[in-house]
Amino acid sequence: MSIVFSGIQPSGTITLGNYIGAIKQFISLQNQHTCYFCIVNQHAITVPQDPDQLRRNSRKLAALYLAAGLDPEKVTLFIQSEVPAHAQLGWIMQTISYVGELERMTQFKDKSKSQGKSIPAGLLTYPPLMAADVLLYNTEIVPVGDDQAQHMEITRDLAHRFNQRFGTLFTIPKTQLPPTGSRVMSLQNPEKKMSKSDPNQNAYISLLDSPKQIEKKIKKSTTDSGNEIRYDPQNKKGISNLMALYASFTGETFDQIEQKYLEKGYGQFKLDVADVLIEGLKPLQDRYYQLIESSHLDQILSDGAEKANEVATKTLTKVEKAIGL
Ligand code: ADP
Ligand code: NA
Repeated sequence: MSIVFSGIQPSGTITLGNYIGAIKQFISLQNQHTCYFCIVNQHAITVPQDPDQLRRNSRKLAALYLAAGLDPEKVTLFIQSEVPAHAQLGWIMQTISYVGELERMTQFKDKSKSQGKSIPAGLLTYPPLMAADVLLYNTEIVPVGDDQAQHMEITRDLAHRFNQRFGTLFTIPKTQLPPTGSRVMSLQNPEKKMSKSDPNQNAYISLLDSPKQIEKKIKKSTTDSGNEIRYDPQNKKGISNLMALYASFTGETFDQIEQKYLEKGYGQFKLDVADVLIEGLKPLQDRYYQLIESSHLDQILSDGAEKANEVATKTLTKVEKAIGL
């Protein structure tokens, strides 16, 4: 049994990328491990957010986690800002981070480009806050998508650095990528990852998209000029991405899918991908609409914050003592 921690930003809708890269792994981990899953609203404010929408999105994300199958009896589900130790340890981790290593992060480079001349400092100091999130719980495993692998490396570096300077206090966490779908690509541009912050809504599928929207987006998705269903992420990026979506919802292997579609073309395959997604998401969507209306959700979040606070405060106290605060 290990300790597992992961987070998702409540910065908009949740995409199939988040689901396949992150949430699906959370569901399978919850039965064997001690799991903490966090709605990282303090990370979300590293770019401007509308306050009311941010509050709604945090609740929405909690409902989606539960609707997807997280069991509040098995996992601790909470909102980051309700556990002050995150920001407190985040500050301490900033003091042992180097500007140079933070500037090298690809997410910082990407996200700061869209902020013009006024780049929020929080975009730069995102990784030490993420390190704090993970380290507060003596985390051993962090299930994330491929785009967070670099932030996990710096988390490990910071933990080592701290341990060397102040005594071995932090557990060094391991990154766990999903077996398939560690990087779900944009439906419009298969060179880019699928992201909820993509301005083109046809580029991603939200877990709450209607059957019509799902069908439309899959039909419109970019594929190469061929017509053969073959898994080849180098040369057939679009179709390989659709195959990864199909595989992750049906459990079929790429070989099985290729065999099944030997005699069929892209048109038929796209319709089937859409069907598989629509059917796969329906139970989740039904549960979501029940949960979002219920005060049970708020109770789960406040119980979660209480449990998380207990563990996090203990770690923070040890850290403060070790560094002389
Ligand atoms: P986003 O990048 O969509 O804003 P977050 O930064 O909140 O999402 O990431 C939440 C989790 O979802 C992380 O573990 C991240 O690695 C994973 N994730 C995000 N996009 C993808 C994707 N396209 N494919 C696989 N995993 C993804
Ligand atoms: Na991300």
